Amino acid sequence: ADPFPFYGAHQAGIITPAQDRLHFVAFDVITSDRAELLDLLQDWTSAAARMTQGKDAGTFGAVGGSPEAPPDDTGEALGLPASGLTLTVGFGPSLFDKRFGLADRRPPALADLPPFPGEKISADISGGDICVQACAHDPQVAVHAIRNLARIGFGRVSVRYSQLGFGRTSSTSRAQATPRNLMGFKDGTENIKLEDTSMLTDHVWAASGDGPAWMDGGSYLVTRKIRMHIETWDRTSLTEQESIFGRDKGKGAPLTGKDEFDQPDFAKTGPDGLPVIAADAHVRLAHPSIHGGARLLRRGYNFVDGSDGLGRLDAGLFFMAYQRDPRKQFVPIQTELAAKDSLNEYIQHVSSGLFACPPGVTDGGDFWGRTLF
Ligand code: HEM
Repeated sequence: ADPFPFYGAHQAGIITPAQDRLHFVAFDVITSDRAELLDLLQDWTSAAARMTQGKDAGTFGAVGGSPEAPPDDTGEALGLPASGLTLTVGFGPSLFDKRFGLADRRPPALADLPPFPGEKISADISGGDICVQACAHDPQVAVHAIRNLARIGFGRVSVRYSQLGFGRTSSTSRAQATPRNLMGFKDGTENIKLEDTSMLTDHVWAASGDGPAWMDGGSYLVTRKIRMHIETWDRTSLTEQESIFGRDKGKGAPLTGKDEFDQPDFAKTGPDGLPVIAADAHVRLAHPSIHGGARLLRRGYNFVDGSDGLGRLDAGLFFMAYQRDPRKQFVPIQTELAAKDSLNEYIQHVSSGLFACPPGVTDGGDFWGRTLF
């Protein structure tokens, strides 16, 4: 398969058909020198332009440079194709708070997320000044890309946290089959897909007049690491599992329909007079009809980070969603879910991230974040 183009009006990795693997990283900027930060963003952009096309991170490559110097590529992707690699950058609220004279450039839509009931957020795996989402079909390629960005950033940024993901939990194209999350349910059925061009305009891309012009054509990313209580879930009956989501486990059809893409009928009641799709079902509470039409482009991944030392898998969903304005999309939807969703008994949000992902890099003279600085 051909590599995805790096240059364009929008960054790749948002509406790109979701690849199978993720390596997500959040960096803290450790230099206080604005010029150094700008140099880094330029260095990163040229490495990203190369790596996404299947090349080494630097021009000499893993083995072509001076034997006396550390190579400008770490080498573990030698011989591997681009594998659909995309690299998507975002800027967190903390980048605007402290330094670099950026305070008045912070978009109002990048407002800190409120606390939500039931969450247990660990600061050490949350936030970050700059994030990079690497997605690829091959985990070695995604890891290689993030590792080389971290290497290039030495002395200017440090890795705050990173997350590996597998088995995408959303489709972002109608050409893709809907994958399953670790609860065994199809996830991504009612997602925004790249073919839905008017929905992308309405719900994904920041538009002129929304906020500062530097974000025009960009998008806001919310990340949430959501731990699943897998062992409790696995002892729950199939009927209960299906009623929690409001969809059947086999096909992913709404409980009021037959096929995956049938529209749910939230008004329908059963013989007991109760709604067939329960009042506290996930798909009812997340549905655009109760959020003034608000939608998300979900692009999450499964994770298993080993075990927790208490006899349980440390597993769940690394939720990622792109949107035009989190104040109108993620926040109201999550407020409703956190208050009422019957799924809450089986999950806990343990990290949180919010990033302004700028528009695309237009050509070889452009760089990540140019419009911001
Ligand atoms: C739909 C699972 C967390 C927003 C769904 C569906 C499943 C699912 C199985 C139905 C299939 C589909 O349309 O994709 C999960 C799991 C979660 C989780 C296992 C946590 C571990 C969240 C969060 C949000 C969210 C945190 C946003 C705040 C949505 C939305 C839909 C959806 C907007 C589509 C609703 C519709 O239009 O029908 N989710 N979800 N989900 N979920 Fe989640």
